[in-house]
Amino acid sequence: MEKKMDIGMVGMAVMGSNLALNMADHGFDVACYNYTPDLTEKVLREHPHKHMHGFFNLQEFVDSLQKPRRIMLLIMAGEPVDSMIEQLTPLLEPGDIILDGGNSYFGDTRRRQTKLQQAGIHYFGVGISGGENGARRGPCIMPGGDKEAYEFVRPVYEAVAAKADGQPCCSYIGPDGAGHYVKMVHNGIEYADMQLIAEAYLLLKYAGGYSNRQIAEIVHQWNQGELRSFLIGITADIFAEDDDAGGQLLDKIVDSAGQKGTGRWTSIEALRQGVNISLITAACNARVMSNLLSERQELGRIIQPACAETKIDGDFVEMVRQSLYLGKIAAYAQGFALYRSADVHYGWQLDLGQIAAIFRAGCIIQADFLNRITAAFTASPQLDNLLQDTFFAGKVNENLAALRQTVASAVQLGIPVPALACAVEYIDALRGTPLGANLIQAQRDYFGAHTFKRIDKEGSFHHEWQKNF
Ligand code: 6PG
Repeated sequence: MEKKMDIGMVGMAVMGSNLALNMADHGFDVACYNYTPDLTEKVLREHPHKHMHGFFNLQEFVDSLQKPRRIMLLIMAGEPVDSMIEQLTPLLEPGDIILDGGNSYFGDTRRRQTKLQQAGIHYFGVGISGGENGARRGPCIMPGGDKEAYEFVRPVYEAVAAKADGQPCCSYIGPDGAGHYVKMVHNGIEYADMQLIAEAYLLLKYAGGYSNRQIAEIVHQWNQGELRSFLIGITADIFAEDDDAGGQLLDKIVDSAGQKGTGRWTSIEALRQGVNISLITAACNARVMSNLLSERQELGRIIQPACAETKIDGDFVEMVRQSLYLGKIAAYAQGFALYRSADVHYGWQLDLGQIAAIFRAGCIIQADFLNRITAAFTASPQLDNLLQDTFFAGKVNENLAALRQTVASAVQLGIPVPALACAVEYIDALRGTPLGANLIQAQRDYFGAHTFKRIDKEGSFHHEWQKNF
């Protein structure tokens, strides 16, 4: 009898083909399908592999798979996923499994899962991070769906995932849309992380006067210490890159960055949950502001620049490094606070320590200090905020003065550092300082009789305010 394929991959673009090759390298027979056959042919021609098999007809592709069938989609998020599900469903049987590995919105994943459940088909939203190289050599994988069905895909995912301390960077996240949710927030943290690094760059360049080459060396040094991470590593490389036309490549790149939407989804979701993820939102807004190229040019001629001659004392580079580190801690604290809230709201039973553990390799936000996050949640699984953990609270105390000084200097110099500024505000708001909300309560009661709570008595109170307007 003809040997059946272990898994099917729909989508032969960069992510799909690389993940399929990774699976094939691990000895899994992969049935490859793309809605345009040319791409499947091209991938198989350019990367011939004894475990990669092309199919050009959807029925034959489905028939080639061993049961229960495991079909992974790595196609564009949105309508193409719905369309592919529609084509596949009549060809599948109860017990078969569809795994969406794209950056789909978790709400869509929940909807698709509910629908497919009626046909007895298991549907997984699988967060995959690491880009092209990760897909080929070992990504971080965040699968969410039916726990029992996960056992059928676990061997494949654990084999192809990145490894950190010998452990696969893949673990079952939870039911429902949990996998895509965790990936969405991962991307939100990625936005904040990138923005914080961009702010450190602006400070080193425009306040410190360092050249790109010097910054490359500084960032490279940072990558040897507590800031060690994938993003810091690639940033050091970027500063060192020459342009073929002369000069340095970074200086030739337009100061305007796009976004595909996962960061924005994270912010919208956090507002719904009532969780403050100000650094992530600031990072989204910073990209939005960067897109206003003509407005920025025009207003640059009208609005006066900062006039302060700020003298920066002490070790400026170290001050920026400490600020970046604390900013990063605040960003992760916010992201994980959102996980905590989502866990309660959706009832997913997320293991926050394990999520940090699988982020240690393969993904874009992989960083050494994730070990500390795992340790914090292992010590207190119900921890509400990372900053309550002794290690992180200690780091706040160690670096807060530097962060304050950095933000204050940046404001005086007119260098926008929205994410770093949000980090100071977040920490200040969390450390028990008055927030003025007593006045907000009074105002609400004044104009809307919304009542207020008192510090000296239980209950809700309304006051007949002396109205003088
Ligand atoms: C990953 C990345 C990836 C993301 C893009 C850029 O984890 O591998 O997060 O999923 O799509 O790299 O996203 P933006 O266009 O939104 O910056």
